[in-house]
Amino acid sequence: MSKTRVLIAGLMVSALCANAQTPAPKPDRALEVMKSSFKDRGQAKLDRLNQDKAMEVCTKYATTPVPKALAKQIEAENMKAIPFPADGKYLGDWRAGERIAQSGVGMQFTDNPANPSGGNCYACHKLSPQELSYGTIGTSLYQFGKIRGYSPEIAKYAFGKIYNAQAYTACSNMPRFGHNKILTEAQIKDLVALLMDPESPVNK
Ligand code: HEC
Repeated sequence: MSKTRVLIAGLMVSALCANAQTPAPKPDRALEVMKSSFKDRGQAKLDRLNQDKAMEVCTKYATTPVPKALAKQIEAENMKAIPFPADGKYLGDWRAGERIAQSGVGMQFTDNPANPSGGNCYACHKLSPQELSYGTIGTSLYQFGKIRGYSPEIAKYAFGKIYNAQAYTACSNMPRFGHNKILTEAQIKDLVALLMDPESPVNK
């Protein structure tokens, strides 16, 4: 989440400057300003401003589409780095998954890094119909398993997507939960169960 936030902050800086009718600042300048004005606080350290290759490309093409070949390269590299579960099991406990999807706690300087983080999935997605408050940046995931089929391939896809959304869509707005160590493998399995267990409210 924090990297997304940093990116948004960067975009806001560029947007503000663009309004002032001066030439848009170079991304390095925006980064320089952020690095000199932000401070380390608790677990929120300045190294979060360091972008990996994918995020550098996404910043560069923030307002224009990423060239197709480059997008394919980002997706392939991110896909290669996903450690799919060695036991081949993708479904955990959907009840735990629902709690993780509901929770927006974690990664902030006020949070205890020893405690598990939440996934904040409802901030962007509709999931269980019982939850009336959800964001719509992401597609509705209601009836995900029922519609896509309860197959091992779809369970694997859901795991990979939650682990690293950019393996499937370069520069996706969805946080890379496993890749950025926001959620653990067990937590991601619980979320896959929320999406894929026929008993989950998502599939009712
Ligand atoms: C900041 C917004 C955001 C958050 C938070 C977020 N997502 Fe997403 N998600 C998206 C967007 C946007 C897409 C569609 C673009 C894409 O495929 O990358 C998406 C796509 C998906 C897909 C693929 C859907 C399909 O039809 O194939 C799954 C599965 C998914 N999200 C699950 C989750 C889960 C589980 C969580 C919580 C751990 C989560 N998302 C949190 C924005 C978000």
